[in-house]
Amino acid sequence: MSLVDPHGGRDLRPLLLTGEALAAEKTKAATLPKLTVSSREKGDIVMLGIGGFTPLDGFMTHADWQGVCDGMKTASGLFWPIPITLSADTAFVDTIRTGREIALIDPDDGQPLATMLVTEKYAINKAHECATIFRTTDAEHPGVAMVMAQPDVNLAGPIKVLSTGGFAEAYPALFMTPGETRALFESLGWKSIAAFQTRNPMHRSHEYLAKTAIEVCDGLLVHSLLGALKPGDIPAAVRTKAIAVLAEHYFVQKTVVQAGYPLDMRYAGPREALLHAVFRQNYGCSHLIVGRDHAGVGKYYGPFDAHHVFDHVPKGTLQIRPLKMDVTFWCYRCGGMASGRTCPHGDDDRLQVSGTQLRKWMSEGQPVPAEFSRPEVVAVLREHYADVDAAKGRVAQAAGPSAG
Ligand code: ADX
Repeated sequence: MSLVDPHGGRDLRPLLLTGEALAAEKTKAATLPKLTVSSREKGDIVMLGIGGFTPLDGFMTHADWQGVCDGMKTASGLFWPIPITLSADTAFVDTIRTGREIALIDPDDGQPLATMLVTEKYAINKAHECATIFRTTDAEHPGVAMVMAQPDVNLAGPIKVLSTGGFAEAYPALFMTPGETRALFESLGWKSIAAFQTRNPMHRSHEYLAKTAIEVCDGLLVHSLLGALKPGDIPAAVRTKAIAVLAEHYFVQKTVVQAGYPLDMRYAGPREALLHAVFRQNYGCSHLIVGRDHAGVGKYYGPFDAHHVFDHVPKGTLQIRPLKMDVTFWCYRCGGMASGRTCPHGDDDRLQVSGTQLRKWMSEGQPVPAEFSRPEVVAVLREHYADVDAAKGRVAQAAGPSAG
């Protein structure tokens, strides 16, 4: 038995050029009309570059967009749960004819990220995308806000990727391509690997999910989002440090690999859980942990909608399997970590801590219960919040005595 196949059943399809082809394409990019992409589009380009979105070859056409929104399938019948699209404003689009190439520019450093052959220009019904993908058109939803704010026309076409957008340099130890994780899993002798999706530090409820998965798989990939999050979420560097101390002190060596991937959060709940499964299969994982409110935000999704959505994936479409896990917590009466499936006691016996509560404990210097989070993890987070509070203090001071 070997690792799962990449999505689509063939080889990984990284679109990142190398060597002479890369040098030649960079020279050409300098001569092409330039479109600066959004942060989300940048993440998608880098993911296409490293093969995480195998077997896509670029940005989706209108037929792909429609098929993905309505039936989770591209025009060619490939299972795909979230549109991967590029938008541009009308002024730029009017200067570009289909059949021409353009350069896609990194919003962070102004360098070319990719070139693209424009095969189609099309408008979309944004509300339809939001209703089908996010299950809401509420402008307060961060994913909806992002789609509604994007320019009006989409451009489709194959891309050639020229860079990893600074991710490899910013996260040298963490940023791994699907080819690299696959090689690492093989060198460790792992066949079954559970991916743990995360955009947060790992507290004990996450540790419990992860260890439950290790009971039934050869190893665990803690796969952290390295792209943009909502304001107030924990930055990737802090989160990965907290996860590293947890792994060092509380996991058996060589059962955990920590890596990161370059996407922004979309907060699409169930649909994003499916995207997480698709690209984790590309990274070589056989299982994806799907817990409570996976990739959710606010109260837009039911706590287990991301479990149920896997029941609608046609048989034989994905090799990766969801490890559906109930809500996990410390139960004082059980005297240990437990889940909604294993603990017969009530809410009063369970320690459940909200993000707001944790933040309050941190900024007031209050102790955090060891049943909620390991002290080593808490220490890393306290350092982070002390920096955040100090920066806020400096801003308030600079604004003068009336600043609230
Ligand atoms: S997210 O991108 O999926 O939203 P997050 O870091 O919040 O990332 O959660 C990581 C994983 O842990 C997800 O699968 C989520 O469903 C699961 N999870 C988080 N907290 C709990 C909990 N208390 N009980 C069960 N699952 C949880």
